[in-house]
Amino acid sequence: MFIDTHCHIFKEYYDNITEVINEMKDNIMIVSGYNSSSNKEVIELVNKYPNVYGTIGLHPEEVNNISENSFDFIIENINNPKIVGIGEIGLDYHYVSDNKELQKDIFIKQMNIARKYNKTVVIHSRDAILDTVNIIKEYQDLKIVMHCYSSSLEVARDLIKMNVKLGIGGVVTFKNGVKLKEVVQNITIENLLLETDSPYMSPEPLRGKQNKPYNCYLIAKKIAELKGISLESVLKITTSNAISQFDLKL
Ligand code: NI
Repeated sequence: MFIDTHCHIFKEYYDNITEVINEMKDNIMIVSGYNSSSNKEVIELVNKYPNVYGTIGLHPEEVNNISENSFDFIIENINNPKIVGIGEIGLDYHYVSDNKELQKDIFIKQMNIARKYNKTVVIHSRDAILDTVNIIKEYQDLKIVMHCYSSSLEVARDLIKMNVKLGIGGVVTFKNGVKLKEVVQNITIENLLLETDSPYMSPEPLRGKQNKPYNCYLIAKKIAELKGISLESVLKITTSNAISQFDLKL
């Protein structure tokens, strides 16, 4: 069994969501919302499919479209037993960096919701790792996942000391994914999670195509190769890491 800890299986990307989910058979996926409409879809999906769990949250690229209702929806649905975290939330200075303070406010507000309701957080950080780490430092009591980890080995070492697990995605299979390969080789597997970030980031040899949760096994295969352990151990250990980091009640 494996768990895709981060994917976006939404109508805007897939013509046939049921097919994508059924292909997973008994494997599990955690679908991650990023704005009000995707958060609503997360709730519909977790209520409909036994192997789908979800996180709801407001992505840093959405900070200009957020209203009080967006937070109300998160709080109203946080106790759904299949909502296992707040996310994806965080900081993204890649395209827009003139709203850093607003991004931090929205991020921290959601970290506080996670703390209040005792939920795991799933963090997106792009071109913003220092500010992200500084905020995480204040929340080491939470269970944290760094989704699509892409920073250095040094930062990875600091993060795992702070209750953080690293989501490893398709980049680890890319030829130019040298930095992430170094992280995977040097961080113990107990601190790694599998994720596809579907529909993005298809692993090799499917790079460029639309991604889907089932492709998790290609990421697991690469991790097994990099660490010199069996595929079975990668699947088994990363599954148990995900169960514990998200408090999954299977
Ligand atoms: Ni994502």
